Amino acid sequence: MMNRPAERIRLMRRSGIREIADLAAGRADVLHLEMGQPDFPTPAHIVEAGCEAALGGFTTYTANKGLLEVRESIAVKLQRTNGITASAKDIVITAGAVNALAETLATLVSPGDVILIPDPGWPNYQMMADVLSVHAVHYPLVAEACYEPDLDRLDELARSSGAKVLMINTPGNPTGAVFSGEMTERLVELAARHGMYLLSDECYEQIVFEGEHVSPASLDGADHVLSVFSMSKSYAMTGWRMGYVTGPSDVIELVAKVQEPLLSCATSISQKAGQAALEGEQTCVEEMTESYRLRRDMVVDILRESGLLISVPRGAFYVMADVSAAGRDSYAFARRLVEERGVAVAPGETFGPSGAGKVRLSLATAAPELREGAERMVRAVADWSGV
Ligand SMILES: Cc1ncc(COP(=O)(O)O)c(C=O)c1O
Repeated sequence: MMNRPAERIRLMRRSGIREIADLAAGRADVLHLEMGQPDFPTPAHIVEAGCEAALGGFTTYTANKGLLEVRESIAVKLQRTNGITASAKDIVITAGAVNALAETLATLVSPGDVILIPDPGWPNYQMMADVLSVHAVHYPLVAEACYEPDLDRLDELARSSGAKVLMINTPGNPTGAVFSGEMTERLVELAARHGMYLLSDECYEQIVFEGEHVSPASLDGADHVLSVFSMSKSYAMTGWRMGYVTGPSDVIELVAKVQEPLLSCATSISQKAGQAALEGEQTCVEEMTESYRLRRDMVVDILRESGLLISVPRGAFYVMADVSAAGRDSYAFARRLVEERGVAVAPGETFGPSGAGKVRLSLATAAPELREGAERMVRAVADWSGV
């Protein structure tokens, strides 16, 4: 028998965001609107705490769940910001939200199980399903309803698929949707009714322009909810790799068990930097969110004027644009936009089938570049329409 890597990994589709980023890399003068990466540096007081931790000897393994004092600080934040009551023992610190989501999924599912993921939604959900050998079924988010889920359809899919986990993401990537409190309540109830865990990706929790982020775990009857948070977006800490997950004690104990073979523990230095972020002044979060809001308004105006706006994002830092006049193949559009107009955007279809004819622009880009990129894209759609 020949040595051969796993077929499912070979067949797994890469994130289209990375595909376009690779195409754009090395080309001079490309405007980068494809990555969900804050363009701000990590605030100085957080970097200083990281340096102090390294110099002060926080350079060893920590407990699987993370340093106790950092988890205690997270517990205070969860109560203050999210209305979630969790003790430090019910928190696992991870290498970013992506690691928390993957480890929690690995804890909840067995190969062959079904999970429900949003369409459009972050491509990594599908990739996690592929890695874990589970079947991901898309449930629709409705553009005309500010990208909230179609509950009747979701109910039907939960029944017909027998899914074990419902994944939700609000504020949402790539939609910018912020689910209402009522919608969140209904999702908590729907998941419970179908015997599903609700895995809630709240990595954009602090980036909200309108409405209010409601954490499902803060609601009544939420003992089937696992909540995942990230330091990456709120504090511009993507490279530090720190996130955390909280939920029912029995599940969290198992997530900590999974942490040992997959990660052992989150980086000790980053944990201390994260603690400083959570305990320090929160004005940096407000200032960055305000910048994203101004950029959102600018891009929304440009897209609205040219008829490409789909829905006004109420949170996170993305805007979807309807480029279907130039064709349904969003990958072809995104590639051509890099090659001929020097603008990189994320192809809509990487977020699911509903992304055909759409692209995602990231607001985590400096305003002048963002304006120029959006305007070039609008001109490209006009030039390529009906050609
Ligand atoms: C919806 C969503 N969840 C999770 C993540 C992962 O964030 P982290 O850097 O914490 O792993 C991202 C990053 O882009 C995201 O968009």
